[in-house]
This record gives sequence, C-alpha cells and structure tokens, in this order.
Amino acid sequence: MDRVKTGISGLDEMLNGGIPAGRHVALYGGPGTGKTSFCFEYLYRGAKMGENGLYISLEETPDDIFENMKTTFPLFTDTAQLAAEKKLEVVKPNQIDLENVANLLEDRIASNNIKRAVIDSATMIRLTFKSDTEYRQTLFEFLSLLRNLDVTSLTTLEASTAKRDEMKFDIEHFVMDGIINLYNLDREDRRVRALEIMKMRGTDHSREMVPFKVTPSGIKVYVGEKVF
Ligand SMILES: Nc1ncnc2c1ncn2[C@@H]1O[C@H](COP(=O)(O)OP(=O)(O)OP(=O)(O)O)[C@@H](O)[C@H]1O
Ligand SMILES: [Mg+2]
Repeated sequence: MDRVKTGISGLDEMLNGGIPAGRHVALYGGPGTGKTSFCFEYLYRGAKMGENGLYISLEETPDDIFENMKTTFPLFTDTAQLAAEKKLEVVKPNQIDLENVANLLEDRIASNNIKRAVIDSATMIRLTFKSDTEYRQTLFEFLSLLRNLDVTSLTTLEASTAKRDEMKFDIEHFVMDGIINLYNLDREDRRVRALEIMKMRGTDHSREMVPFKVTPSGIKVYVGEKVF
C-alpha cells in the first residue's frame, strides 16, 4: 500500500509509515492545540519531497497563515520560495460552501498536480448548514468526490474543549477515514501538548497518547514517551 509520509517527526512512526495514500484525515482539537501548525508542516514537508500542496484556509488569509507560520517555524526558511514555485499554495475561498471548496480542489489538482490538501477548518463549513442531517449528507458526498481525486488530505475540526474526557464524537468522526486528536492538557503547573491517533482506516497504528512539542524546526512527536 502507498503511504504519504507526513514528514512530521515521530508521527509517521506512529502511523507505521504514513497516512495511507488517498485517505482523508481529521485533525480534531480545541483552540490553540496546534491544528494549523500540523497542517502547514504536512504541506511544507510534502513540498520539500516534491509533492505539491494546497492549503484551503476558511478563516485566516494566506498572508496571516504565512506570517503566523513564520513565527511558529522560523527555521522553515524556504516557505516563500516554495510558495513562489506553487509547491505550497495557500488560498482563502470567497465562499465557504463545500461545493465551492470541491471545485477549487478539482481545479488546483488538475492545473497544479496537487497531492496534499488541507481544509482549515470544516467547522466553518458546518456553520453554513441549517441541519445536521443536511450537513452529514453533503459531507458524505464531498468525501466521495475527494476519493475520486488523487489527493491525501487533512481537515481540521474545532473541538469546544482541549480536555480529553470532555471530547465527544461528532458527525465528521464517522465519515472521515482517520482521526488524530490534539490536546493541551493541564499537568499541575504547566500545559502539555499531546496527541493520539484515534482511528486510521487502512493501517495499523499506535494507540498511545504521546506528548508533542512545536519547535522552531518543526513539530516533534515523542513516540514511546508518557504524557504524565
Ligand atoms: N513561535 C512559537 N513558539 C512556540 N509556540 C508557538 C509559537 N507560535 C505559536 N505557538 C503556539 O502555537 C499555538 C497555535 O498553534 P496553531 O495556530 O497551530 O493552533 P490551532 O489549533 O490552529 O489554533 P486555532 O484554534 O486558533 O486555530 C499557539 O497557541 C502557541 O501556543
Ligand atoms: Mg488554526
């Protein structure tokens, strides 16, 4: 089976080599848990490996994303170059509906051979639906469409809490191929970032909750280490 290496230190090991190619994974986490940073590094590492990436940002402008990521990852010194070469595209659609996002994806895949995609965040899209049933149906159709495209994607989902025991299952958890949960945990006098792979169709994977850090040279996932 083909796998797409995220390139994020430690994460591919947890995934037994990477995300199964063509799958669509949700990154689920509370505010500030590192969703955007994960997505950006996924595309950055891909671009460096020769796989073009498209970042569909539904809230922040491309300038915001590049500026924020410059402070988060100061050692990614070639992002502007990769962007200029269209290996790392960041776009903010005018409309936030799924049809528009799907069209944008199809267009960029056809014209720029996009292999990795990010949608940040699906929570914005959900707000445009009147009912959960309608949203679930449309999301399902959207994923069917994505499955016909040769792309491996990450979609962020905003959890209303950063606490593990308060997280609940949402519609997206059932339709997505994989779920990675990001946490910002209280540990006595400090906060600890942690993640776990909750599900990943098509591959075995680690089920441990492990700590991670956002460092200037990229995210480091500490496989085999305990959060406590
Ligand atoms: N230069 C930096 N060094 C270390 N940590 C940083 C740096 N810049 C940002 N961070 C941390 O990263 C967090 C934001 O990460 P990110 O934007 O990836 O999270 P997010 O889950 O996308 O947030 P949001 O819910 O706002 O979309 C900040 O809250 C901050 O703690
Ligand atoms: Mg974000």
